[in-house]
Amino acid sequence: MTNSQRKILVTSALPYANGSIHLGHLLEYIQTDIWVRFQKSRGHMCTYVCADDAHGTAIMLRAEKEGRSPEEQIAAVKAEHEADFAAFQIGFDNFHSTHCEENRELSSLIYTRLRDKGHIAVRSIKQAFDPEKEIFLADRYIKGDCPKCSAADQYGDNCEACGATYTPAELKNPYSTISGATPVEKESEHYFFKLQDFDAFLKDWTRSGTLQNEIANKLNEWLEAGLQEWDISRDAPYFGFEIPDAPGKYFYVWLDAPIGYMASFKNLCDSDKGQAAGLNFDDYWKVGSDAELYHFIGKDIVNFHALFWPAMLSASEFRTPTAVNAHGFVTVNGAKMSKSRGTFIKARTYLNHLNPTYLRYYFAAKLGSSVDDFDLNLEDFVQRANTDLVNKLVNIASRTANFIKKAGGKLSDNCVEEAMVQDFINAGDQIAAHYEAREFGKAMKDIMALADRANEYIQEKAPWAMNKEEGREQEVIDVCSVAINLFRQLITYLAPVLPEIAEKTAEFLNLDDMNWDSRSNILLGHEINKFKPMLARAEMDKVTAILEETKAELAIENGEKPAAETKAADSKKQEKKKKSKGPELREDGNEVIADTIEFPDFAKVDLRVARIVKADHVEGADKLLQLTLDIGNGETRNVFSGIKAAYQPEDLEGKLTIMVANLAPRKMKFGLSEGMVLAAGPGGSEIYLLEPNDGAQPGMRVM
Ligand code: MSP
Ligand code: ZN
Repeated sequence: MTNSQRKILVTSALPYANGSIHLGHLLEYIQTDIWVRFQKSRGHMCTYVCADDAHGTAIMLRAEKEGRSPEEQIAAVKAEHEADFAAFQIGFDNFHSTHCEENRELSSLIYTRLRDKGHIAVRSIKQAFDPEKEIFLADRYIKGDCPKCSAADQYGDNCEACGATYTPAELKNPYSTISGATPVEKESEHYFFKLQDFDAFLKDWTRSGTLQNEIANKLNEWLEAGLQEWDISRDAPYFGFEIPDAPGKYFYVWLDAPIGYMASFKNLCDSDKGQAAGLNFDDYWKVGSDAELYHFIGKDIVNFHALFWPAMLSASEFRTPTAVNAHGFVTVNGAKMSKSRGTFIKARTYLNHLNPTYLRYYFAAKLGSSVDDFDLNLEDFVQRANTDLVNKLVNIASRTANFIKKAGGKLSDNCVEEAMVQDFINAGDQIAAHYEAREFGKAMKDIMALADRANEYIQEKAPWAMNKEEGREQEVIDVCSVAINLFRQLITYLAPVLPEIAEKTAEFLNLDDMNWDSRSNILLGHEINKFKPMLARAEMDKVTAILEETKAELAIENGEKPAAETKAADSKKQEKKKKSKGPELREDGNEVIADTIEFPDFAKVDLRVARIVKADHVEGADKLLQLTLDIGNGETRNVFSGIKAAYQPEDLEGKLTIMVANLAPRKMKFGLSEGMVLAAGPGGSEIYLLEPNDGAQPGMRVM
C-alpha cells in the first residue's frame, strides 16, 4: 500500500459519566474522528480509543440521587453515550470505561512505580468535612453567607452579589450542599505526586514540538512560576480505585482518567478485534515505541495532558505522547452555550431533528489547528450545509447520474476531460496535507473550489440540452461520466468528514473502497447503480425546534443548578487563583487557558455606581432608552442602552446601577453615548439591570 505505513494511536478526552454528550463535546469527537478516518483512508494503521470517565464524587452523588449504585449509573450513561456517538458516526475502535480491571491494574502499576522512585509525598492536610454525611467537602459543595455583604447562598470562593473573593473558611453560616450540615475542619493524610521533580523534563518536553505554540507559551508561564505537588488522593467515601498501599484512600479521578486511555487500548489489544489487527500493548506504550500517540482535548484540560500526564508516563517508564492537540470551546451564535437560551444542545436533542452530516460538515468547514473558540452560528450553519453539501456537492451526481442510468448504467470507456480529472486527482496531495495538519477548514475550502469547477463544467456542457438533440447520445454519456468521476474524487476527499455520504456513494458507484489512493484510477466502462437521494436540505425551523426542546429540558431539570450558571463563578475563581503560584485548577482541576484576562486588564475597567436620574424613550429607536446617570461629584453622563424591551423609563428613574465609566464615548445615530450600564440576561425583555444594594452611593468605585 503506502510506502511507509505509520502506527498511530489516537484518543479523545474521556467524557464524564454523569452527564449527556452535548454539542461542545461533539466538536472534539468529530474533530478527532475526522482525523482518524483520514489516517485510515491513507492506509495507516490508526487506532482510536476512548472511554467514559467514571470516577469521582459527582458521579457517586448523582447515582445516589437517582437511587442506584454507581455501577448502574455509569452503565446507563455509557449506553447513552455510545448511542449518541454512533449516531454521529464517531468511529471509535474501542469505547471503554475507566472503571475497569485494566485501568485498576495500570493505575496501580504506575502509582507503584512513582512511589518506588520517590515521587509520592504523604502528609496531612486540613479540609472541610460534612459531619452528617461523613464526607470531605470540595469547595464546590460548601455554601454560606458572604463575609463582606452577607448575601446568602454564596459559594466558598466568591460572592455573586458583591464580587468579594475569599476562602470557604471565611463564609458565614457555612453549610454543606450535600446534607445541609455545618462543615467542620478535619485533618487527614493525602498523597501527592511531586510534579516539581519533573521541572527540567517538562520544560524540555513542552517545547519539543509536542504542543501548539499558544499552549506551550501558557505552560511556560506556569513552569516559570514553579510547579507544585499535586494531590492525587481522596478519602472514602469515593467512587474510584483504592490506592494499593493505603486502605481508605482513593485515587483522585484525574489520576486514573488519562490512564484510562491505556486501559481502553489494552482492552482492545486483548479482544478478538485487537488480536486480528495484530495490536500489541507494549509495542505502542514502551519507551522508544515507533508508534505515534495523539491526544485530542479541549483547552480546559491542558495541564493534565501536558504536565501531569507526560510526567507520570516518563516516571513510570512508558512512552510520552507525540503531541497533544487542543481545541477551543464551542459558542453558539457568539455566546457561551446556555440552557436558558436553548443553546446548551444535547447530542440527542440535535438528533431528534437534524441529520448529523450537517454538523460534521460545519465543524470541519470552520475548524483549524488553533485553540480559538468555535462559533456555531445557527443561520450560517443551515446555509452552509445547504449551499455546500446539497447545492454544490450532491447536485453534481443528481444532475448527471440519470443520463448514465438511462443509457445502460455504464460509464463511458474513455475520459474526455483527462486533464481536468487529473487536476482533481492531483489536488488530493494538498488536501491531504491540510487534513494532516488539522486544517480541516482549508481542506473543505479546496474541496468546495473543486466542486465549483465541476458544476461549471456541467453547466457549460448542459447534458440535459444535449440529450434533446439527435445523435449526441455518446457525448451526453461522456460528459456525465466526467462529472461522475469528479464527484467520486470529491467524495473521496470528503469521506473522513461525511462517512455516511461516502458509504452511499460507494454503493451508488459500485466501489468496495473509497480510500485516498483509489481515486487515482479513473472509472472507465464501469457499471454504476441507480442514484438515490443522498441528503435533504437542512431547515431553519428544525433548528428552532432544537432550541425549543432544549429550553423545555431546562424546565424539566429545574431545581438543579444549570451548569452554565456556575461559569460566572468559575471565571472569578480563575482570577483569584491566577495570583497564586503554578497551574491552579478549577473544581475538577481544570484551568481554562484562553478565556481569562490578567488582573491589570480587569483593573483598567472603571466601574462605578450610578443613579439613573432620568430615563427617556428615544425617537425612532426601537431598542434604546436614553439614560442620564449621576456618577457622583455632580458629574452626569448620557448613555444609550438597549433595554427598552425590558424596562419602562419611569420604572428606572431613581434606581442605582453600575456603569463602565471609562468607556470611550461613542457617537450614535441619536447622540453621544458616554459609557455603558451593566445588565444580565439572555436579551430582549429578559434583561436585568444590575442594581447594587442600598448603601452604595453614586460615584463609588466597584471593585
Ligand atoms: N473527564 C474529563 C476528561 C478526562 S481525559 C483523561 C473531562 N470531561 S468532560 O466531559 O468535561 O469534557 C470532555 C471533553 O469535551 C474535554 O476535552 C472538554 O474540553 C470538551 N468539551 C466540553 N465542553 C466543551 C465545549 N463547550 N466546547 C468544546 N469542547 C468542550 O473534562
Ligand atoms: Zn458579598
